[in-house]
This record gives sequence, C-alpha cells and structure tokens, in this order.
Amino acid sequence: QHIVAVKELDSTNVLAAKLAETGEPDGTLVIADCQTGGKGRRGKAWFSPPGTGIWMSLILRPHLPLAQAPQLTLVAAVAVGQVLSDLAGHRAGIKWPNDILFEDRKCCGILTEMNMESEEITRVIVGIGINVNQTEIEFPDELRDIATSLRIVAGRPFHRAKVVQRILERFELLYDQYAEYGSFAPIREQWKQQSITLGRYVSAHTPRGLLTGLAVDIDEMGALVLETDSGRQKVYSADIQVS
Ligand code: BTN
Repeated sequence: QHIVAVKELDSTNVLAAKLAETGEPDGTLVIADCQTGGKGRRGKAWFSPPGTGIWMSLILRPHLPLAQAPQLTLVAAVAVGQVLSDLAGHRAGIKWPNDILFEDRKCCGILTEMNMESEEITRVIVGIGINVNQTEIEFPDELRDIATSLRIVAGRPFHRAKVVQRILERFELLYDQYAEYGSFAPIREQWKQQSITLGRYVSAHTPRGLLTGLAVDIDEMGALVLETDSGRQKVYSADIQVS
C-alpha cells in the first residue's frame, strides 16, 4: 500500500484528490499529523490539531454505479465503528450516515468525496477524522459538550499508528466482502447492529427539504427509510438530527 504521510497540510482530502488525479493507485493512504483546513460535511471546519488525532484519507477506485456511492461511506463507518468499540471497550454507535459516537458525543466523522464520469464513479476519497488522544480541555468551547475522544472514553491514551493499522485492516476486510458479494447485504446487517439511528425519530435536512419521521431501516442501497406522516420515505443524503 502506498502511504503518503505529511506533518502538516490543509486537508488530507484535498491532497488525496490531487494525487488521485495524477494516478496514485487504489488504496493509497494520505495521513497528516495536523490539518490547517480540515473539512467537515456541509462546508464546516473539522478541528484537526497536531499530536492528538487521526486525520487520513483513502483513495479508492471502485468503478461503481453512482447509486451505490453512499455505501462506501457506510462500509467505512462500520469498519471504524467496530475498531473503536473494540479498543474503547464501549459500544461505538453509528449515526446515519457516517458519524461515530460514544453516548451521543462524536468521536469520528467521515467525509466522502467523489469524481464521476458518465454515471460511473471513477475515484472516491474517503476522509476519516478520529479524535484519539484529546482530553476534554483540549476541545474548543463549542465542541466540548458534543465531542469526545477514544482516550476520554477508554481512560487511557492510544498509539495512533496502531489504531490506523487496525482500521485499515478492518476496512480492507469489509471492502473485500462488499466487492466479492457484489452487494451491500453483508455490510448492511453489521451496520444495523451498530446503528444508533434506527428506532429513533429523526429530522433529515435533505436536498428536497426537511423530512421528519421514525427511522425504521436502511435499504439494500444504504438509504435511510423513514416512517413519516405521509408514508415511507427514503433518504439518500442528508444531515440528520436525532430526537
Ligand atoms: C464530518 O463529520 O463532518 C466529517 C469530518 C471528516 C474529517 C476528516 S479528517 C481527514 C479528512 N480530511 C478532511 O479535510 N476531512 C476529513
């Protein structure tokens, strides 16, 4: 596996996208100790100080039809969630589509960006940010009540490179399963086991507007199924609030 490790950069997703464009192979990992312009979803910034977290991006070249794109994020979320649960000794829950939380506090976020040519996805950047060794006082005020780290949950610090290694191994295993089955089915069951979204009322800010309902399932494509006042609705991409 190609690994590009950098002390400081703007965003591993940005560098990974550039490298992908110039032909860096499938599976390349871009990782940084510190990001000065870490990106979250919906244009938000991602707090990425030096020495404490895992800020990394994987370059994938999956050749999937566009409709299957969300599934890659779910595969990554399952892999990270399983490893964080094992390491922390506490259940890490997945909030659809891709936040990993311990007791409602966010420990990991995933930002997937992709490039397509005529309805086929040719390259995907899966950016993973994990709070590993931060203590509570190291989070800025606005994050203190909503963020957590592996160290806070487990009560001990972790060796970041070992955590990275475990995540890559688990991701590879699940990604191979996914590719081999040619379907999302095996991942879907594991995702459901780790979900903290199913069974809860959620508000989803979708490109088509606000949808509110009980989250009852994720379908075979990875879409969230909501039971709303006007029947079952599928959500393919959104930010959700859980109540
Ligand atoms: C989110 O929950 O909003 C997604 C956060 C994703 C953060 C990671 S850190 C590594 C990679 N590089 C970025 O700029 N963002 C992702």
